[in-house]
Amino acid sequence: MEHSRWLDQQDRAKAKIDVTDPTILKQLEMIDLTIEEIRLASSIQKLIQAHIREIVSAFYQTITNVEELKQIILDNSTLERLQKTLERHLIEMFSGQIDGEFLQKRIRVAEVHYRIGLEPKWYMGAFQNLQSTLLDIVHENIGNRVESVRIGKVISKILNFEQQIVLE
Ligand code: HEM
Repeated sequence: MEHSRWLDQQDRAKAKIDVTDPTILKQLEMIDLTIEEIRLASSIQKLIQAHIREIVSAFYQTITNVEELKQIILDNSTLERLQKTLERHLIEMFSGQIDGEFLQKRIRVAEVHYRIGLEPKWYMGAFQNLQSTLLDIVHENIGNRVESVRIGKVISKILNFEQQIVLE
């Protein structure tokens, strides 16, 4: 099968799921997010990195279109600071390292959003648009249709897993 230049084999090799919490393991199993898929996710980290500006600016466009969300940001942070934070967060989402540190960071994100009073409906809405942007980038850059569909599925699982943890 022809492989896209974006599917990085070295990044794939580093992927791991190092989780002992039985509930988290069940959550992964429920959505059938396997190590092979985590490997596939890590193989597109460089693609995500190459498009990170576009991803993050689309993300903030979505949020700032909603007046009350714009206000939450202005009250608690700055757009510049959040953009940098989100860039790092999204690139790490495709690190292929599902471990204690990965889970701890998500718990912290949940705490931060709870503290600023972000309601789950807005968080979910932001995720939907993020997913659309990521899928557009994959479809535009991964020429092989089979690979592109597989990666699209993995992206939706990773985002779902993140929401499962953060919205708990
Ligand atoms: C903070 C990710 C949705 C507003 C953060 C942080 C991350 C993050 C990684 C940094 C947490 C930390 O300091 O450790 C995300 C993701 C979202 C999302 C992945 C959904 C896909 C939203 C939405 C808003 C928002 C919809 C709308 C107001 C904020 C604000 C902070 C923050 C204001 C900074 C709080 C502070 O520094 O005190 N977010 N976020 N986020 N997020 Fe979000």
